[in-house]
Amino acid sequence: MTKNIVLELKNICKNYSTKTETLEIIKNLNLQIEEGDFISILGQSGSGKTTLLNLIGLLDSPTSGNIYIDNENISVNSSNIDLVRNKKIGFVFQFHYLLPEFTALENVMIPALTQDYSKKKEIEKRALELLKEVGVDHRANHKPTELSGGEKQRVAIARALINNPKILLLDEPTGNLDNETSEKIFNIFKQINSKKRQTIITVTHSRELAEISNKKLFLKKGILSE
Ligand SMILES: Nc1ncnc2c1ncn2[C@@H]1O[C@H](COP(=O)(O)OP(=O)(O)OP(=O)(O)O)[C@@H](O)[C@H]1O
Ligand SMILES: [Mg+2]
Repeated sequence: MTKNIVLELKNICKNYSTKTETLEIIKNLNLQIEEGDFISILGQSGSGKTTLLNLIGLLDSPTSGNIYIDNENISVNSSNIDLVRNKKIGFVFQFHYLLPEFTALENVMIPALTQDYSKKKEIEKRALELLKEVGVDHRANHKPTELSGGEKQRVAIARALINNPKILLLDEPTGNLDNETSEKIFNIFKQINSKKRQTIITVTHSRELAEISNKKLFLKKGILSE
């Protein structure tokens, strides 16, 4: 069977320089992710997990090395980077970052509307379907302040999926939720991974979430190992 590599990191290094020192957070990291993979990245606090996810999510540039998405070498400095990110990557952060002045439905629609406003009707339909899939369609017209923590996180997941991203990135997606709600959200990830072959990379401290992934990677001292 031929592998379909959606993401490849080649010789990635990431340093942070402060006034007094240079911190080597990621050291010559190589990684290939296949379509449909569900990867969890574990590691101690401060080990560089968010740093790595931000590199993969094209939110930050590596100190050296290359990132390929769909076999295309992507530079964060290229002029169309916002478009690439918007089309290829769905990001769910530990905190939802929903826009407070918009409803749940509008929050889900926005990343697609900014690409093609003329498709508003279709986008609205798809956004409603996604809200249904994650179980918050009954709150579509609520603003973020009128939603519970778990509901907000579900809306953020629907928003991350609206543009059919190649890769869904999750940074502690249930970090601030209770166990029961977390479990429901894990099930959503499991479903979209198995039914739709959605590629998922998650950073987590949660054993349960790591258990449902199909590959666990550990980040320690800048080095990633299985
Ligand atoms: N902009 C920055 N400048 C300097 N150092 C930074 C910067 N951002 C992060 N760091 C340092 O890099 C290290 C890795 O940070 P990162 O946020 O990636 O850790 P993490 O593994 O996600 O931790 P946690 O589990 O606590 O979220 C930390 O020691 C942090 O202090
Ligand atoms: Mg982090």
